Amino acid sequence: MLRIKLSLVLLAASTTSMLAAAALPPQAKPNCPYQCGNLTVPYPYGIGDDCHIQLKGQESQYNLTCNHSTKTPSLHWKNSDVTITKFSLAEGELQITNQASKDCYNENGLQIDNSIGGIRVFPPLSISGPKNKFIAVGCDTRAFLFGYRGDQAFITGCMSGCNNLSAVDQNSCSGVGCCQTNIPDGLKNPRVRLNSFSNHVGIWSFNPCSYAFIVQDGSFDFSRKSFQELEKRRRFPMIVNFAIGNVTCDVAKKNIEDYPCKENSTCADHNNTTGSGYYCQCQKGYEGNPYLGCQGNLTVSYPFRD
Ligand SMILES: *[C@@H]1O[C@H](CO)[C@@H](O)[C@H](O)[C@H]1NC(C)=O
Ligand SMILES: *[C@@H]1O[C@H](CO)[C@@H](O)[C@H](O)[C@H]1NC(C)=O
Ligand SMILES: *[C@@H]1O[C@H](CO)[C@@H](O)[C@H](O)[C@H]1NC(C)=O
Ligand SMILES: *[C@@H]1O[C@H](CO)[C@@H](O)[C@H](O)[C@H]1NC(C)=O
Ligand SMILES: *[C@@H]1O[C@H](CO)[C@@H](O)[C@H](O)[C@H]1NC(C)=O
Ligand SMILES: *[C@@H]1O[C@H](CO)[C@@H](O)[C@H](O)[C@H]1NC(C)=O
Ligand SMILES: *[C@@H]1O[C@H](CO)[C@@H](O)[C@H](O)[C@H]1NC(C)=O
Ligand SMILES: *[C@@H]1O[C@H](CO)[C@@H](O)[C@H](O)[C@H]1NC(C)=O
Repeated sequence: MLRIKLSLVLLAASTTSMLAAAALPPQAKPNCPYQCGNLTVPYPYGIGDDCHIQLKGQESQYNLTCNHSTKTPSLHWKNSDVTITKFSLAEGELQITNQASKDCYNENGLQIDNSIGGIRVFPPLSISGPKNKFIAVGCDTRAFLFGYRGDQAFITGCMSGCNNLSAVDQNSCSGVGCCQTNIPDGLKNPRVRLNSFSNHVGIWSFNPCSYAFIVQDGSFDFSRKSFQELEKRRRFPMIVNFAIGNVTCDVAKKNIEDYPCKENSTCADHNNTTGSGYYCQCQKGYEGNPYLGCQGNLTVSYPFRD
């Protein structure tokens, strides 16, 4: 079983990147597939049984799936439709994609489409506050973001109104045609609601739809063209915190048997007050994978490291 999965992955990997990776610190567990398309999968994540971390009494959150049926192989959290596009072990972060929500009207002000895109972030993943924005685009637009931090419910959002395309902000998202808001760090189970004040009546000719999405800070540039461009583009990158469990380092260290930070590594809290969990980091001067053991004095640097 394992061998079959491994060979599938080997086929997908180019010879040069294989050679480069072979000489470098282990990022996956030995004998485990470590590439999906051009993405290197680092332990504690893994593709398939025995290749990912498994803590006692926890449902496995680190078992990923590589889908080879897509145009380029795509990596999925568990076997969901959440696509992982980047790993940053050092910062305890993943880049995933989320789908924009959309709220559209026809010329007579009838709602013809209200599709709430899935921003699927389940524990132990949580949204990074500093690295993302919640953005809404439109001229008759009210957008809300609901979620939980710890067990506290939370709402944030923004609104934007304009009655003339020439009034719309030219190249910044600052409230006319586009609005944005910060996201509280550690937000979980996010949900979007998107609606309008007057069904886009009077502005329909240039703006029939509103859009809302979470996006990695700096990865969306608003302009007047965005109204059209967003009809085609639905997926946006966002940064999520990944954590081992939902306790703090102090608590995790007491459970020695299950403590995942290996030799030459330390434990880091995402935020010790929000239940965002902890992750492992190599100690200063060490490199490699903190969940397998870090090494000091490396002379080669790892090209796949983000
Ligand atoms: C990996 O592949 C994706 C999709 O084909 C591409 O967008 C991305 O730039 C590639 N990344 C690297 C580091 O080659
Ligand atoms: C890991 O995921 C694969 C594919 O979804 C599944 O067949 C397997 O049972 C999972 N293993 C564990 C331990 O969850
Ligand atoms: C893999 O991707 C294809 C094409 O997008 C899709 O039809 C299929 O359901 C996916 N398989 C899994 C297991 O997600
Ligand atoms: C839109 O603004 C332009 C430039 O300020 C103006 O010429 C035009 O009359 C305005 N249109 C409407 C419908 O207000
Ligand atoms: C952690 O969360 C608390 C409570 O929400 C917040 O006040 C604090 O600024 C956060 N700390 C960091 C380092 O993000
Ligand atoms: C949480 O972190 C702050 C600094 O970020 C620290 O002062 C405080 O002692 C920590 N609390 C616990 C319970 O670890
Ligand atoms: C932490 O996880 C446990 C088990 O998965 C769950 O019962 C508990 O409610 C979680 N606590 C928080 C603060 O999310
Ligand atoms: C920890 O670092 C030391 C010094 O570089 C090294 O000798 C040792 O093998 C490392 N431990 C692991 C598990 O890699």
